[in-house]
Amino acid sequence: MHIAVYPGSFDPVTNGHLDIIERASKLCDKLIVAVLDNPSKMPMFTVEERVKHLELILKDKPDIEVRSFSGLLVDFAKSVGSNIVVRGLRGVTDFSYEFQMALTNRSLDSDIETLFISADTQYLFFSSSQVKEIALFGGNIDNMVPRIIKDEIYKKVVKTQGMQKSGGI
Ligand code: COA
Repeated sequence: MHIAVYPGSFDPVTNGHLDIIERASKLCDKLIVAVLDNPSKMPMFTVEERVKHLELILKDKPDIEVRSFSGLLVDFAKSVGSNIVVRGLRGVTDFSYEFQMALTNRSLDSDIETLFISADTQYLFFSSSQVKEIALFGGNIDNMVPRIIKDEIYKKVVKTQGMQKSGGI
């Protein structure tokens, strides 16, 4: 059975990530979407919230599982019986970073293979940070994230702005 791991921060998951998830899941028997628990990145959503978002969005996909992980990706992959890491490529800028990461992972574990999937053209230009920034300034993120994520982002934005007004931050 081919198990692949698609790791990322998913803070928040975007339509670009979901496109990669959908396409990657067709190439393996089971896809594990692995959410990195890395508090030093100061995420908008906790790892539990990010896992919950993905689980809700992917609830009708029995071949896709959502897990959180911390530490090295190669260790996590091994722990779930996988040696395939999936990454999306949005262009040449992603490539140099991703290539370095793929080589690093192989130097840590020579069994690990990285499978690159080119992002669909409609998702080439945005990232999770941009989605959050656009929402913060009242812009339209309808085409960038699923409805449920849009609602969750706006809840956080309203909460943050309320705390700023009351001098909480
Ligand atoms: N569509 C839209 N956006 C995309 C995208 C796509 N297809 N693919 C990537 N992105 C964006 C994300 O939105 C994110 O944007 P942001 O920087 O604005 O938040 C950015 O690209 C980074 O993407 P992500 O896939 O979340 O990767 P990451 O860099 O946050 O995490 C890990 C990469 C988790 C794979 C890596 O850090 C890791 O393996 N960590 C574990 C420690 C380890 O093993 N280290 C050694 C190996 S380097």
